[in-house]
Amino acid sequence: MLKPDYPIRTERLLLRPLDASTDVDAVHAYQSREEVCRYIPYSPRSKEEVAERLASGPLRSTLEEAGQALGLAVVVHETNELIGDLMLAWISAEHRTGELGYVINPDYQGHGYATEAVRALFPLAFDQLGLHRVIARIDARNDASARVLRRLGLRQEAHLLENEWFRGEWTDEIDFAILAAEWRAGQASA
Ligand SMILES: CC(C)(COP(=O)(O)OP(=O)(O)OC[C@H]1O[C@@H](n2cnc3c(N)ncnc32)[C@H](O)[C@@H]1OP(=O)(O)O)[C@@H](O)C(=O)NCCC(=O)NCCS
Repeated sequence: MLKPDYPIRTERLLLRPLDASTDVDAVHAYQSREEVCRYIPYSPRSKEEVAERLASGPLRSTLEEAGQALGLAVVVHETNELIGDLMLAWISAEHRTGELGYVINPDYQGHGYATEAVRALFPLAFDQLGLHRVIARIDARNDASARVLRRLGLRQEAHLLENEWFRGEWTDEIDFAILAAEWRAGQASA
């Protein structure tokens, strides 16, 4: 069970549940862009698709059982601008595994926001939900995403050759992971 105390504050950001009544335009501003969707499973979304997903999609503000996914808005607290979103999926209760996802509006990339926002998910995943292992699976061409994960201390564990037929071509996947003990060791030495 995970019931975070919102908003979650980092140095520059607030993380809070996505709000179907106020967030559609800001989310659509980046989820509609080709370059944002290049290496991620969804195609550019219309405003109606974003609205529907925020209103009744799979993303939740609490996790009650494996199979569910937390979806959070990334907001710059100084300006109150919504600049991206995060996902923490609870993959397995038995194996205590979760998976990360993250998107930052291109207008705000290159400032370390993804790294700062995803870093705030680890206390939720490891301390509050009690996960043992957190993974991220990315397109092997997604260098910016790989850099975020390495900066956060995740380890590359696999490079899967042509394991997905994705938008008309075979694509490679790189799998990253970090264990709770590794994250805790990093916290202690920081
Ligand atoms: C992957 C993605 C989330 C990265 O977003 P981002 O906010 O630019 O990522 P970061 O937080 O790492 O910041 C990027 C750069 O800002 C730099 N930076 C600038 N100011 C910084 C600061 N104050 N603190 C930390 N880093 C800072 C970093 O050094 C980093 O540089 P580098 O990656 O060239 O080494 C973004 O490219 C994206 O949304 N892509 C499309 C969706 C996607 O593919 N998501 C991942 C799915 S697996």
